[in-house]
Amino acid sequence: MQEQINRLVKEWFDKQSYEFVPGKTKIPLSAPQYGAPEVCEALDSLLNIKVTMGEKVRRFEKMYAEYIGVEHAVMVNSGSSANLLALSVLTNPMLDGRIKQGGEIITPAVTWPTTIYPIANVGCVPVLVDIDLETLDMSAGETEKALSDKTRALMPVHLLGNPCDMKELGRIADGNNLFLIEDSCEAHGSEYWGKKTGSFGDFSTFSFYFAHHISTIEGGMILTSNERLAELARAMRTFGWIRDLRNRNEIAGRYDIDERFLFVTTGYNFRPTEIQGAFGIHQLGRLEEFISIRRKNADYWSKQLQDYGDIFIVHKEKPNTRHVWYGYPVTIRPNDKFTRRDLIQFLESRNIETRPVMAGNMAEQPSMEHVVHRKDSLPNAEFVMRNSLFLGNHHMIREEEREYMIRCIEEFLRFKKAV
Ligand SMILES: Cc1ncc(COP(=O)(O)O)c(C=O)c1O
Repeated sequence: MQEQINRLVKEWFDKQSYEFVPGKTKIPLSAPQYGAPEVCEALDSLLNIKVTMGEKVRRFEKMYAEYIGVEHAVMVNSGSSANLLALSVLTNPMLDGRIKQGGEIITPAVTWPTTIYPIANVGCVPVLVDIDLETLDMSAGETEKALSDKTRALMPVHLLGNPCDMKELGRIADGNNLFLIEDSCEAHGSEYWGKKTGSFGDFSTFSFYFAHHISTIEGGMILTSNERLAELARAMRTFGWIRDLRNRNEIAGRYDIDERFLFVTTGYNFRPTEIQGAFGIHQLGRLEEFISIRRKNADYWSKQLQDYGDIFIVHKEKPNTRHVWYGYPVTIRPNDKFTRRDLIQFLESRNIETRPVMAGNMAEQPSMEHVVHRKDSLPNAEFVMRNSLFLGNHHMIREEEREYMIRCIEEFLRFKKAV
């Protein structure tokens, strides 16, 4: 029966058709990227009533750790949980040399809110630093300037899949005895000097939310090559109990408590379901194909927009890196012909969806009134908050769609007499 179901599922997906009609078909910011393999694998878990975290999650963890090039991966239910878990481990009283309450953690001002909030959630102080305008990544120079005697960690973000300057940030972290946590939630498969981002820090975190390079619908991962950090992450992911620990038998021997309900640390419930593991093991095999499509699109857009370099800042891939273009950012240079709002309205009227670059400058978000933080001057983050937008970039955007998007931008520039 299951084979019959699988055949039908395959037939269902084979029958789905997609035709791009310029101006009519919406070009969304993200698009579903799963098919029969993911659905059949998920159905296998559902039909066989093996739905809570199990063998498929473990398989995906092992595959993902190998792909990034680290020793340990701990899957969780979101990228936000991954960040909170990583920081909770680094502040855990059981960890020698842990970060104590009030310790400062330097992170970029332009990012997603849940890079920053978890720092405050664990009793530390986020220090927001400016980005480089060309790369949109946390500036290593600004990071160095923001160091204080309270700094305990750096938490760079490979924004939109563009690898940060890991040589410089690594030098700053090593030279000042700081933990390094890479928020790689937008950077699956990006590379810095041939090494995958997510393999440089004490911890790195990934998101597998629907819009990301690969997706488990919701989901996240925390990676490390440090066995001690990994074991604490495994315990804290699930209530602080010992069931997922490698040395659980040895720990159990120390207490006269039912080992199934033995809690050695505080923790959360950040477990993913087996359905998410089922998606992950099939999605990973498609990641390189997805990256290659995103890179082709970005390469095309960057070449075309280069002709309008006096109107837009074209954000480029840096030498010796592989940018994986989570989205395609467009930054408008100040001019008297049009505003960002004009361009957004025009593109949306042509069925091209747009959004800000993540949350823009987080220092300007009202929520930050409730987060004790420190910030330096942030002219570039402020500039991006007002002048940048982000176009969708994913596997559904191919030659026809990407050409249409450029045609629309050119039509707009002519209409506004900007060219
Ligand atoms: C840089 C960054 N960090 C963290 C997250 C949080 O991931 P999630 O949405 O899976 O919670 C995101 C989400 O897009 C992100 O872009």
